Amino acid sequence: MIPTMISQAEQAFYVWLTRECCADLGAVVDLGAFAGGSTACLAEGLRQAGRKQIVHGYDKFLVNDFNVFRRRYHTYLADLPARDADFPPRGLPEIQGDDLLPVVRHFLAPWGDRIVLHKGLIEDQTWQAGPVELLVMDASKTAKSMHEMSRLFFPHLIAGRSIVVQQDFLWWQQPWIAAQMAVLSDYFEPIAHVAPMSVSFLYTKHMPPEMLEQANIVTMTDDQLVGHLRAMKQSVKRFRIDRLMRRLISAVRANPEARQAFHFRNRPDGFFT
Ligand SMILES: C[S@@+](CC[C@H](N)C(=O)[O-])C[C@H]1O[C@@H](n2cnc3c(N)ncnc32)[C@H](O)[C@@H]1O
Repeated sequence: MIPTMISQAEQAFYVWLTRECCADLGAVVDLGAFAGGSTACLAEGLRQAGRKQIVHGYDKFLVNDFNVFRRRYHTYLADLPARDADFPPRGLPEIQGDDLLPVVRHFLAPWGDRIVLHKGLIEDQTWQAGPVELLVMDASKTAKSMHEMSRLFFPHLIAGRSIVVQQDFLWWQQPWIAAQMAVLSDYFEPIAHVAPMSVSFLYTKHMPPEMLEQANIVTMTDDQLVGHLRAMKQSVKRFRIDRLMRRLISAVRANPEARQAFHFRNRPDGFFT
């Protein structure tokens, strides 16, 4: 019943991940919580499993226009799956200005102190809450912010146990995600594709901090990006997502030197979705 940008399959995957794959080894971190939909799924899995782990939800928690958000919320409720859900909608609290945080707190109240929300730019935050068992990355809208987020959280992953969900892995306007994971492929093994866009990785072994500087997608040329995307295309062959990997490569060629999602204005030729 909480508005979300992730698909139903992805929502179910998030619940399953925290219910079945986590083992109380560290925190669950949701980068890019928007209205709280993904955070709720992660907390719900922990609730079902009866675990004590905390979900840390990060976002700017800002809306440009609250009336637009309100209209979208009502459209969301009128549509499936919310329309057929057996729960009454929680309604929207009245808010002033552009701060979405009170609304998100209201939506997430049923999960109580299993959830801690952090408002602001993620790259300006610090992390002092120990190991991270599950990291969901859904705010990598620029190469620079992704690089900063990886620097902040990757050092806290647990070798052989932690999972990283790259929610926008296959989205054509963010090719740096797959490129960075390709450079770090000695440390991250692709383990799942969930339709339409997400690919998840197991963090397999300890990564020296200097590796992240080698994987700096901000300073890569377009040719280097494409080279890494080709390597990743081979690594994820078994997921049968070749077409979407080719689209990432075409997107780099169609949008030279773009390193921010909103600078990707030219949709690659031959791709309509
Ligand atoms: C695709 S949405 C996340 C969708 C969400 N996971 C869901 O379930 O609906 C991306 C979110 O990332 C946030 N975001 C993007 N860049 C950010 C940054 N640098 N710092 C904080 N939040 C950021 C945006 O405010 C937005 O809510």
